[in-house]
Amino acid sequence: MANDDKKKVQLRSASWFGTNDKNGFMYRSWMKNQGIPDHHFQNKPVIGICNTWSELTPCNAHFRQIAERVKNGIREAGGIPVEFPVFSNGESNLRPTAMLTRNLAAMDTEEAIRGNPIDGVVLLVGCDKTTPALLMGAASCDLPTIVVTGGPMLNGKHHGQDVGSGTLVWQAHEEYKAGRISLDEFMAMEGSMSRSAGTCNTMGTASTMACMAESLGTSLPHNAAIPAVDARRYVLAHLSGMRIVDMVHEDLKLSKVLTRDAFINAIRTNAAIGGSTNAVIHLKAIAGRIGVDLSLDDWNHGKVVPTLVNLQPSGKYLMEEFYYSGGLPAVLRRLGENDWLNKDALTVNGRSIWDNVKEAACYNDDVIRPVDNPLVASGGICVLRGNLAPRGAVLKPSAATPALLKHRGRAVVFENFDHYKQRVNDPELDIDASCVMVLKNCGPKGYPGMAEVGNMGLPPKLLKQGVKDMVRISDARMSGTAFGTVVLHVTPEAMELGPLAAVQDGDMIQLDAHNGILQLEVSDEELAARLEKLKASQVIFRTGGYLEMYRERVLQADEGCDFDFLVGCRGAAVPAHSH
Ligand code: FES
Ligand code: MG
Repeated sequence: MANDDKKKVQLRSASWFGTNDKNGFMYRSWMKNQGIPDHHFQNKPVIGICNTWSELTPCNAHFRQIAERVKNGIREAGGIPVEFPVFSNGESNLRPTAMLTRNLAAMDTEEAIRGNPIDGVVLLVGCDKTTPALLMGAASCDLPTIVVTGGPMLNGKHHGQDVGSGTLVWQAHEEYKAGRISLDEFMAMEGSMSRSAGTCNTMGTASTMACMAESLGTSLPHNAAIPAVDARRYVLAHLSGMRIVDMVHEDLKLSKVLTRDAFINAIRTNAAIGGSTNAVIHLKAIAGRIGVDLSLDDWNHGKVVPTLVNLQPSGKYLMEEFYYSGGLPAVLRRLGENDWLNKDALTVNGRSIWDNVKEAACYNDDVIRPVDNPLVASGGICVLRGNLAPRGAVLKPSAATPALLKHRGRAVVFENFDHYKQRVNDPELDIDASCVMVLKNCGPKGYPGMAEVGNMGLPPKLLKQGVKDMVRISDARMSGTAFGTVVLHVTPEAMELGPLAAVQDGDMIQLDAHNGILQLEVSDEELAARLEKLKASQVIFRTGGYLEMYRERVLQADEGCDFDFLVGCRGAAVPAHSH
């Protein structure tokens, strides 16, 4: 863009820095204590770098180095970088679950962007919840915004074998409980699994959300897959810094990118990558912030799309191979060639998504499968409904056992996660491989925060018999790195007295994933009578603090688990000055 054109856009930051009165004096003077010269306040785009760096979020612990590269790019393009921290949601450390504070981080992001002299914003994201949280907050402000992801870890290596983040833990722990590996062997795997900076290297929630950000058009091409320690990650950070300055001049706001077409692209991409079920909740929450109508049934758009990306936990490889094989652009090209891409959707580089990927190369057809040789023929997330989940539930067929996708079995019920932990190891527990394990009170309000406990481990006595998978049903989520025939996000949750609350040991349950059915074989009258009885005995907890607000205001899974009062775009205008 020519320099003359650039000057035409009235910068938002000018209402802070652009006046020679008392307010302008105050806004500039304190900033000058950082050694900023006068001419930097004269009509140069101020770019916020919203950083989720934290040593307690190990996946994002390298973000200060990435921020430096973003700053280099911003300066080169004539902008002024200003880095600021927001609440960092670390999946591995935060109790009771990082999901509990996703909305807190989103509020933090929104208020920090709106309240400050920022013309455009770079979101530095990585670990699972950091991506949706920052996109949610930014979407409610709707400034020009670009996502820079921290990138995945290098492949884990244990005794010469590749091992994947998270997926290894689930597998090895079952092996240990079944007595097939020793405690020493189990412990030795820790250091092998996480051996470089970056996010989980499987197609878990972090990699999934990075792919969602790229397929939504909010990042530059290849942002999702370049390893954290690969020099090209730093080049991408630099280029993203350069690009956001031009986005400000072009007034390319987030709402021009985050259209309904873009969300449908993301849903189909999720099917093609074998992505995490958590994306169902996060995409809904982001769509709600920008004002795009998206329903649980929109996930049926992904049903026709085969899973092409052969990555753990659905498949074999890890994010390193994914990048070396062509990364997400190669996948998007295959979607486009089969009419599964809304090709005109605009992306942050100012081009359509199809322009970005139509010549993308694939270098390994086993990692990124062609459409006629997919990993799973019908990928996507399966939406289930029935008297057990009137507002829906989800299941990821690519991570499930095909034979269990249509199953009828006797319920073995765990009233909450503590009850599960007490009961599951009991050798006397009346359970066999055909039973359906039902876990209650792990939803948004119940846990609270909807923890990733839905892929509850199988009873040790069955593991020792060689049982590898069983149907499991809950109102919880599961880690994107997990696998199994696991029905999740049952809505309404048990704590809200959804029908899940009324399931009893011995009830028969039908799952038919092919036809989207989840049915409890109990009559309507009996179900209503059981729920009435539960209502009378329900105890309301008053915890105080954030937790209390969370329980009062969080929406159910089908609505994205946002707070009811945060849904919507409130824009970036702040007419009042601080003095
Ligand atoms: Fe942070 Fe997996 S725990 S990305
Ligand atoms: Mg995770």
